[in-house]
Amino acid sequence: MKINGKSYKTIWFENNLVKIIDQTKLPHQFIIKELKTVKESINAIKQMEVRGAPLIGATAAYGLVLSIIENNDLSYLKKSSEQLVNSRPTAINLKWAVDRMMKKLLGVNNSDILKIALDEAKAITIEDENFCKNIGLNGLKIIEDIANKKKDTVNILTHCNAGWLATIDWGTATSPIYHAHQKGIKVHVWVDETRPRNQGANLTSYELNEEGIPNTVITDNAGGILMQRGQVDMCIVGTDRTLSNGDVCNKIGTYLKALAAKDNNIPFYVALPSSTIDWNIKDHNKIPIEERNPKELSYVEGLDEDNKVKKVRIYSEKSKAMNLAFDITPAKYVTGLITEKGVCEASEKGLKGLFK
Ligand code: MRU
Repeated sequence: MKINGKSYKTIWFENNLVKIIDQTKLPHQFIIKELKTVKESINAIKQMEVRGAPLIGATAAYGLVLSIIENNDLSYLKKSSEQLVNSRPTAINLKWAVDRMMKKLLGVNNSDILKIALDEAKAITIEDENFCKNIGLNGLKIIEDIANKKKDTVNILTHCNAGWLATIDWGTATSPIYHAHQKGIKVHVWVDETRPRNQGANLTSYELNEEGIPNTVITDNAGGILMQRGQVDMCIVGTDRTLSNGDVCNKIGTYLKALAAKDNNIPFYVALPSSTIDWNIKDHNKIPIEERNPKELSYVEGLDEDNKVKKVRIYSEKSKAMNLAFDITPAKYVTGLITEKGVCEASEKGLKGLFK
């Protein structure tokens, strides 16, 4: 999608380096950062310079390419793969991408390994882009139906950033929105601010603005009253890990939006590529929920009066804070899963029907 009218992907490989858009700097600064080593890739994932389940998977894949460039040695590669998988715990895409890469790389000649690794990392990004495009086409039908019935702007609420910045391109939750907009359907997006990292305000609103899609940032707690007032036609969110029974793990606060949507009979959709499905864990209590530094709550960053980026503390140092990054929305609150293969019920039957 576009930034300042120019098309970008979120990650690419150039001159033996991995290039990313540093998302910690958006929306105030647009900085392309170079990753030279696997350590820098791990750091980029941990610090959330890249974030969003599909994008951190792709970054891990390219991290292994960098690991081979640095040191073409099997034990170094294995160590790198473990460190990459552990760089953030919740999104399954990290392990999915690293496992896929290692399956290709183990047992390969040292002289061939770099090319094979690079080809596979690129294949992961191309596949994700195609999957996200198809998610958009499948979700478009849902928006079209609402638009045809309503004959007015479709108001869609989303949480966090499951936009193109969280993937390679198109996004998951935003892809149906981009497709609807391109088809001339009038859409407006309610963007949850998404404390504490403000991915909604900083990233989702930013990317929608760049594509000319009307949107309004709201506080994380405003969704409920908007739903009660009939100002939300549907919700679409992303996910970091969806279990085979349809339970959805996503950014903290997603569950409360799903509860409010249920109470107000508003469809609540989750958009995901198949790389985000965890076919192994059966009980959502077993999903590792990331707990991040509480300072992400007590400090906020923004522009000061002189247009300089500044970080300030917003409450007392004595206040204890807790920073759980994800929550679980049980399948019963999910109207449907929008995948690259079609839309299905949030259940084992639904998912297995699409993914044999
Ligand atoms: O902590 P983040 O910003 O990586 O969390 C991202 C989300 O929760 C997204 O909704 C999810 O990864 C899906 S991205 C298509």
